[in-house]
Amino acid sequence: MNSECSERFYSMKQNLIFTNDVEAAVEQLKARIDHNLAVWIADVNTERLLFALPNLITINDGERAKSWETVRNVWLEMEHAGVTRHSLVFNLGGGMVTDLGGFAAATFKRGVRFINVPTTLLGAVDAAVGGKTGFNFCGLKNEIGTFAPASDVIISTRFFDTLPPEEMKSGFAEVIKHAMLSDRGEFLRLLDHDFAAPIDHDDLLERLRRSVQVKADIVDRDPNEQGERKALNLGHTIGHAFESLAMSGYEAVPHGYAVAWGLVTEAILSHIKLGFPSEDVHRLGHFVRDNYRGFPFDCGDYDELLDLMSHDKKSRDGEITCTLLATIGDYRIDQTVTTDEVTTALDILRDHLGL
Ligand SMILES: NC(=O)c1ccc[n+]([C@@H]2O[C@H](COP(=O)([O-])OP(=O)(O)OC[C@H]3O[C@@H](n4cnc5c(N)ncnc54)[C@H](O)[C@@H]3O)[C@@H](O)[C@H]2O)c1
Ligand SMILES: [Zn+2]
Repeated sequence: MNSECSERFYSMKQNLIFTNDVEAAVEQLKARIDHNLAVWIADVNTERLLFALPNLITINDGERAKSWETVRNVWLEMEHAGVTRHSLVFNLGGGMVTDLGGFAAATFKRGVRFINVPTTLLGAVDAAVGGKTGFNFCGLKNEIGTFAPASDVIISTRFFDTLPPEEMKSGFAEVIKHAMLSDRGEFLRLLDHDFAAPIDHDDLLERLRRSVQVKADIVDRDPNEQGERKALNLGHTIGHAFESLAMSGYEAVPHGYAVAWGLVTEAILSHIKLGFPSEDVHRLGHFVRDNYRGFPFDCGDYDELLDLMSHDKKSRDGEITCTLLATIGDYRIDQTVTTDEVTTALDILRDHLGL
């Protein structure tokens, strides 16, 4: 294969724009990129978050609307609007909109350039960046999709004033994850965050800049998740198991809450297996106990949790594999953990959370 072509095709290099003047950034992009038509995709809540949007395709909000039917309707509206390969698609919304809108754009006429404008914290630090797009199918999350990066991502905190507090906390868990993969000073600074205080937009934008860069750098080195990108799974092998357990046996929890408990559990496993400093386990444990309300799971749930972990998409051959840390910033992918080690870590987690 021609290496120049393959590099161009697979590169996830994205132009990341950090600003709270979103209108100006949109106008600058439109002036810079030659195009015949710009259309917007937003959900029923996010369509109100920016100026009157021309050529707007509105979709329903939430995970249930992240469906084949919605993709089909978006394509139909693109067809009616006269979208061509020379057009621009702007996705304005949380991860649901950027995943689905990105997929619809990336596949329409074999690919229309798209630009993400994330409106949730999770979207800004995770979903809108890195090129994974898709929708849910046959009851399975993100079952159909493709790697296709937005050419540009406009990252702003100005939308967060209307975000429910649970959504802020949920996205913040991914911000902590990125700091754990990169920078202890940033990690400690984040653990001082007070969710009850009004948003300091300048400071939060700076936190986002650092956080998104961690993901962007890793994705750039391993766009298709053959190796290093698995580092971004930190907290998620255990976190996904909590998410599924909560959904089946308790009340559903926001993704980032489950990730927060996953981060503490995997920090404990990191301590057991790689000597990750206990001081950092404790600091993280306190922050999570104070901010991420747990559900009252107990040792009767351990078998199901272990079963869920060994069936995690990213585990192999029924073994439980996680990304672990020797210290903050020193990550090790594909670490196998035993059921005894996980059981011990879950006991310690329950102590931390006061469950
Ligand atoms: N592609 C990736 O790498 C990646 C990574 C993580 C998550 N995801 C996907 O992201 C999705 C979750 O994203 P999400 O947490 O952003 O949820 P979401 O997009 O479903 O938004 C949650 C709710 O908040 C509303 N909303 C959005 N912005 C708002 C704002 N500023 N003010 C008020 N309400 C607002 C939405 O209308 C919706 O009702 C999942 O589908 C997940 O699979 C993708
Ligand atoms: Zn996540």
